[in-house]
Amino acid sequence: MTDFTTRNATTTNSGAPVASDDHSQSVGADGPVVLHDHYLVEKLAQFNRERVPERVVHAKGGGAFGTFETTGDVSAYTRASLFQPGAKVDMLARFSTVAGEQGSPDTWRDPRGFALKFYTDEGNYDLVGNNTPVFFIRDGIKFPDFIHSQKRLPGSHLRDHDMQWDFWTLSPESAHQVTWLMGDRGLPASWRHMDGFGSHTYQWINAEGAKFWVKYHFKTNQGIEILSQAAADQIAGEDADFHIRDLSEAISRGDFPTWTLSVQIMPYADAATYRFNPFDLTKVWPHADYPLIEVGTMTLDRNPSNYFAEIEQATFAPSNFVPGIAASPDKMLLARIFSYADAHRYRVGTNHAQLPVNAPLASNSYSKDGAMRFSHNDPSVPVYAPNSFGGPHADPALAGDDSGWDSDGALLRVAATLHADDDDFGQAGTLVREVLDDAARARLVSNIAGHVSKVTIPELRVRVLEYWHNVDPTLALRVAEALEPSAPGADVAAEEVGIPA
Ligand code: HEM
Repeated sequence: MTDFTTRNATTTNSGAPVASDDHSQSVGADGPVVLHDHYLVEKLAQFNRERVPERVVHAKGGGAFGTFETTGDVSAYTRASLFQPGAKVDMLARFSTVAGEQGSPDTWRDPRGFALKFYTDEGNYDLVGNNTPVFFIRDGIKFPDFIHSQKRLPGSHLRDHDMQWDFWTLSPESAHQVTWLMGDRGLPASWRHMDGFGSHTYQWINAEGAKFWVKYHFKTNQGIEILSQAAADQIAGEDADFHIRDLSEAISRGDFPTWTLSVQIMPYADAATYRFNPFDLTKVWPHADYPLIEVGTMTLDRNPSNYFAEIEQATFAPSNFVPGIAASPDKMLLARIFSYADAHRYRVGTNHAQLPVNAPLASNSYSKDGAMRFSHNDPSVPVYAPNSFGGPHADPALAGDDSGWDSDGALLRVAATLHADDDDFGQAGTLVREVLDDAARARLVSNIAGHVSKVTIPELRVRVLEYWHNVDPTLALRVAEALEPSAPGADVAAEEVGIPA
């Protein structure tokens, strides 16, 4: 048998040797090319189909493989095998910006995605978070509108500061996240130099079935480093792939980045009476109330060998839980549990979980057929359950079905019940006054003023200053002073908010 691969000969997709890498078949050397040059047709047709749709958000990103090792003991809170003392699992991380398209610069101001996939012996566990512990909205029904406001105008296809600030100021629950975004965390120096957060409150369940509420914090061991606005703007022009390059080069030279995972644990019963709604994604839990408990270390030590196969086609879904970890009543999280798996069926295909990067260590599922299905059970295994022929059957002892929570009431379409200290601006103000130092506050003022200077509608500027006045009056005053005086509305804005000009 001829072995084309050993002889390194080019073949068609169906494995036949090809006559030329350089020339199409034509009628005479200068004549028209012919349709039956099926190798030419195959090359062009295959090329036309090289792209899958980019992610509707978080399109620009990069990632790497590594391991997670549990060094602490949180077995009192979760029975998940990956978080038992001494456990070590393989994993994949993908980092991204949110609003930009695939070729957009890595250094545009934006939250950064921090998506993790842990390949565990109980199935894949995905934790799809950001480099901020909170988010812009608290109900998933607003997500498409929020993203539309951050992307492009329908006519000119330009991004638009009026649209962004219009949405934010009409959605005051965004104040905490916008404060993070306009501050240092909106421009990390690299993915290696930023923290990651699960952001939502999740549920942990221990071996006895006791439930806890949990928040995840991945602290970078490289230290936090940020870019100035000027540096980020310059890099955006010089090297749009600055963060992809940084991670890839660090791993290539053996400088493996690590993060320490800690969690905050809230006893199940505390949720009802805690001073903030613990399931509100615009809030953090102060560490004084729920201190960090160390769990283990994530290390990234292997670059993908093919970006498309292993990063572009990677699918991370907040619905991918393992026994001992589950959802919470956070309305954002519950919306995401539908959204991602649906996006994956559209973007990559119904059998995306069979691709090597997404495949669990083992699976025993009754799903079958569909485009590109290539793995299947032995033909003697029944294709339905229940059956009398020894096919797989659900095992409640393995999975447990104890991931629910207490919930009762009429079916409504209203905001969640307020807790004593719930409001939209309080934690944002605390961040400005108590967490930031003078230098970080000065950068925040300058970043906000720079951004708001591009708002063109005077009335909207007034609303923007009111928004910051609600966060912190001194901050609003400083922003008003820092706004370009020539910008429309700069003069009236300060006056109307009651800030002396
Ligand atoms: C990506 C929807 C909120 C972090 C995506 C994708 C969708 C989506 C459809 C693209 C998925 C794909 O094609 O693979 C939503 C909806 C949300 C929401 C409907 C609110 C209800 C959030 C929040 C976070 C987040 C709160 C972080 C805490 C991410 C990340 C990715 C992503 C990191 C990229 C995942 C990757 O690297 O493949 N989101 N999202 N999203 N989202 Fe969200």
